[in-house]
Amino acid sequence: ARSIDLAVIPGDGIGPEVVAEGLKVLSAVLPGDIKLETTAYDLGARRWHATGETLPDADLERLKAHDAILLGAIGDPSVPSGVLERGLLLKLRFAFDHYVNLRPSRLFPNTATPLAGRPDIDFVVVREGTEGLYVGNGGSMRTGTPAEVATEVSINTAYGVERVVRDAFERAAARPARKLTLVHKNNVLVHAGHLWKNTVDRIAQEYPQVSTDYLHVDAATIFFVTQPERFDVIVTDNLFGDILTDLAAAVTGGIGLAASGNINPAGTFPSMFEPVHGSAPDIAGTGKADPTATVLSVALLLRHLGHEAEAVRIEDAVSADLAERDAATPRTTAQIGDALAARVAG
Ligand code: IPM
Ligand code: MN
Repeated sequence: ARSIDLAVIPGDGIGPEVVAEGLKVLSAVLPGDIKLETTAYDLGARRWHATGETLPDADLERLKAHDAILLGAIGDPSVPSGVLERGLLLKLRFAFDHYVNLRPSRLFPNTATPLAGRPDIDFVVVREGTEGLYVGNGGSMRTGTPAEVATEVSINTAYGVERVVRDAFERAAARPARKLTLVHKNNVLVHAGHLWKNTVDRIAQEYPQVSTDYLHVDAATIFFVTQPERFDVIVTDNLFGDILTDLAAAVTGGIGLAASGNINPAGTFPSMFEPVHGSAPDIAGTGKADPTATVLSVALLLRHLGHEAEAVRIEDAVSADLAERDAATPRTTAQIGDALAARVAG
């Protein structure tokens, strides 16, 4: 499209700071004939304190009309844990059917990794985004007593598993290594594990060019550290994907570089792009937040909307910027944004 109608949810903590830089780079990379229109939504801790609302239906309706959503971060120590996570972030993912939670990991040049040597890391986690343990299916009995019983039931449907597995196969087929790894825990979680494994095995017959393998999630965490180069595309459920992608970020330069897309592949609803990191209230307002994860999320956004050349320009700019970074002379959030904007414009 020759225009982008973007909803922006800056959110809490460092969210507004990193989003400002993401928008700076987005404006700089877009050619003059692509019109960018942004609408900011006041959602997060401030709104909740002011009105008690997390995501009212009216906002949800208005958000639906945009081409995509850019989100900074949600969460604040002044709001009880879970209120904004469930009432805003997860509500958006569920309401807009973001069943593909796409989280690429790549070890950029000159980036610190705790791993020995410099393994060649370039994989993408396709995390299921609408089911599993995240649906809130559970309850508590005799709450607060010594006899309390709490349950969280993981929901895995054939429909939900098949569609995300298909998406992962499509992505694997389009990559040079053409490899798909299913991560689960089917030696213990036999019911859901069976559904996931059978689905992958069945769909694999349609993709003879893609090789598949399976890892239990505990073993996968070992390989993330000892042999990350073995991974290409990983498909996994919502919670395993959450945990694995923080580990993936830690071994590829830190959470300051990890980007994500909450994608509704059919385009029925707007997809939402956000850094994997949280609102980091401890450094909010200090200019210390690294906006790179948000900038890379903007690249994912552009790719999703069909602006591949601009997405690559941003990723190349990040790569070049990282190559020149010097830990001894840290830059502010805005300085990094300015440098990246200058590179993509040049
Ligand atoms: C993430 C976050 C969220 C998640 C939280 C804030 C609900 O950790 O995007 O990875 O668990 O998905
Ligand atoms: Mn997480």
